[in-house]
Amino acid sequence: MNHKKALNNPIFKIISEAAEELRVDAYVIGGFVRDYFLNRHSSVPDIDIVAIGSGIALAKHVSSKLPHKPKVQVFKSYGTAMLRYNDIEIEFVGARKESYNRTSRNPIVENGTLEDDQKRRDFTINAMAFSLSASDFGELLDPFDGCVDLNQKIIKTPLDPDITYSDDPLRMLRAIRFATQLNFNIQKESLSAIKSNSERINIITKERIVVELHKIIASNEPSKGFLLLEKTGLLHCILPELIALKGIDEIEGQKHKDNFYHTLEVLDNISKYTNNLWLRWAALLHDIGKAPTKKFNKKNGWTFHAHEYEGAKMVYHLFKRLKMPLNDKMKYVQKLVFMSSRPIVLAQDMVTDSAVRRLIFDAGDKVDDLMTLCEADITTKNPTKFNKYHNNFKIVRNKIIEVEARDHVRNFQPPISGEEIMNTFKLNPSREIGMIKEAIKEAILDGQIPNEREAAYTLMLQIGKKLGLIIDEKR
Ligand code: CTP
Repeated sequence: MNHKKALNNPIFKIISEAAEELRVDAYVIGGFVRDYFLNRHSSVPDIDIVAIGSGIALAKHVSSKLPHKPKVQVFKSYGTAMLRYNDIEIEFVGARKESYNRTSRNPIVENGTLEDDQKRRDFTINAMAFSLSASDFGELLDPFDGCVDLNQKIIKTPLDPDITYSDDPLRMLRAIRFATQLNFNIQKESLSAIKSNSERINIITKERIVVELHKIIASNEPSKGFLLLEKTGLLHCILPELIALKGIDEIEGQKHKDNFYHTLEVLDNISKYTNNLWLRWAALLHDIGKAPTKKFNKKNGWTFHAHEYEGAKMVYHLFKRLKMPLNDKMKYVQKLVFMSSRPIVLAQDMVTDSAVRRLIFDAGDKVDDLMTLCEADITTKNPTKFNKYHNNFKIVRNKIIEVEARDHVRNFQPPISGEEIMNTFKLNPSREIGMIKEAIKEAILDGQIPNEREAAYTLMLQIGKKLGLIIDEKR
């Protein structure tokens, strides 16, 4: 069947002419073709072109035919070339007979047919190609029945999965990522091959692993991916901290919940309300401190004392191990993990203004995200408790708005500066200044005085007097 209408972007005609002039056949392959059949329109589609000959030569020729002669980036060791056209990344590669090996330094042999190249790709749904030759422009070439697998929602490798996965073990993670993003199932043989090869994921760079993890976390129902990661053994290698949350212990008839499955529920919950990748990461990691802090005693049963503190420390080590940036995103996740139980305490009791004021003060501009996390954390199956907690969180959210409008503690600036305290009492930098500032802040957070200069000034004078300080009359 012909699919010319998939190729209405003028770039395809230009590539077609360039290929004709070089007397090579060229095809669009991979994600572009897959997403066309899935009706999945990414705003800026990336295009993969395979040439039966040199991909680099074709890329250079295409560039010479474009008005702006875009720069061609050549990756010699991969035998690929890339150019940009109207924000679209177009990658060119020569058809390969042998499996490509990203870690090998040997030059890649470009002597394959289209089918040789297709069978060395990851999945049947990614191995479909449209011809760009003038004679059959738009013809679909699908020797591994990718279209059938698309319709049946199956992730399957063109070759024996053991071969496909050992060519590039990252594909095990890609299989799970596609299954999660597209809500597909992984074929049984493929799933067994992932299970038996899972430890080979360790040879893949952390950066490539993280790209796939991000995509799983950004999916509509990320738990699907994490359950597959767990089932195949990949999670043990990538995020052992989550595996440590699995299981229910029982001592003297007392049990705690399985924090692994709870975590996945929280992650799915939050994904209904936010696309913020880092807030989703915070949901995934919010309980990781529970494994190392778990204890049992007769009086209190199971406890996870200070798990939020421990969890926040673990976030740093986890990001570092996965070579994720140790920047403000990491600090954001740390802070949310650290504060993840704070609003819950509020939701169980009467919600006082001062508790809310302290929450806003400590969470700063992350307070809304923290509330979203805590709401997602309600996974109780008891409808009475479920409603009670949600209602209390509604009260907390309303109080946050009310208190913030009145007291402005979200990005708290002390109403009296250290300098003013020094000048008032003719002090050099000293412990007393910190004490006075702290007492004023505490009084505001407790609601004893409003967050206003005048009230704070009066309080400063009172505290100074108590501390035996003398007002500098010469001011
Ligand atoms: N590919 C492969 N093995 C890999 C990565 C990629 O065989 N480990 C092939 C697939 O044919 C894939 C194509 O290269 O379709 C392009 O890869 P990539 O751009 O990474 O993924 P897409 O399939 O385009 O999907 P997405 O954009 O969602 O990542």
